[in-house]
Amino acid sequence: MRNLIVMVAMVVCGVPVSVANAQGIVKAHEEHRKDPLLSNRNFLASLEKMDGFVRVTEKPFLMHAPTATQCVVNTHVDIHGDRFCDIYISKGGETAILAGAAEYPVGTIVIKIKYPDEERSKIELYTVMRKMPKGYWPEHGDWEFSVIDSEKKHVLARGRVESCANCHDAYAASGYLTRTYLREQVNDE
Ligand code: HEC
Repeated sequence: MRNLIVMVAMVVCGVPVSVANAQGIVKAHEEHRKDPLLSNRNFLASLEKMDGFVRVTEKPFLMHAPTATQCVVNTHVDIHGDRFCDIYISKGGETAILAGAAEYPVGTIVIKIKYPDEERSKIELYTVMRKMPKGYWPEHGDWEFSVIDSEKKHVLARGRVESCANCHDAYAASGYLTRTYLREQVNDE
């Protein structure tokens, strides 16, 4: 009987709700411990110097027009006219991207840097894909998508970004990475 009274009191006082909240906080804390880059601050810090990244484009390539248009929609960054890009990948993913592999090591980060010209006179935007553990978003290859401002100070979009994933789905055979710029480099030779 006493237990029942305590239980009723807990329900009335909203105790279970706060227990649920506490569990949520504990869970979030646990996730951040397992994946420190989940916090935007750590994520930006990890991209600060780009240590251990390899550039896979020899020179900036001309960005495909439909992609450029989509980026305006996503980020409100004005990119009328031609845009040029370089692609960087974290070291462990270099072999896979050059070979056109279907799988990438968990933790691989791919960065597309956008410039207004071929001379890399200034950086306008970064778009990033990070390979997450299996189960993160299996229908889109378990990639996390993000958009970062030119100064690497703000995360403009991040996570399971549908608009990004829907287009990259067309490249599932090469691990959801387009690799179009690599093919163009080969054709140039
Ligand atoms: C309309 C289709 C489309 C959409 C939408 C799109 N992308 Fe892409 N993405 C491409 C194409 C095509 C390339 C190849 C390079 C190029 O032409 O710009 C590419 C290249 C990339 C790359 C370099 C790795 C690779 O796949 O070769 C990254 C990283 C990237 N996109 C991230 C993003 C993010 C983040 C978003 C969402 C904000 C996004 N993309 C939305 C089509 C798209």
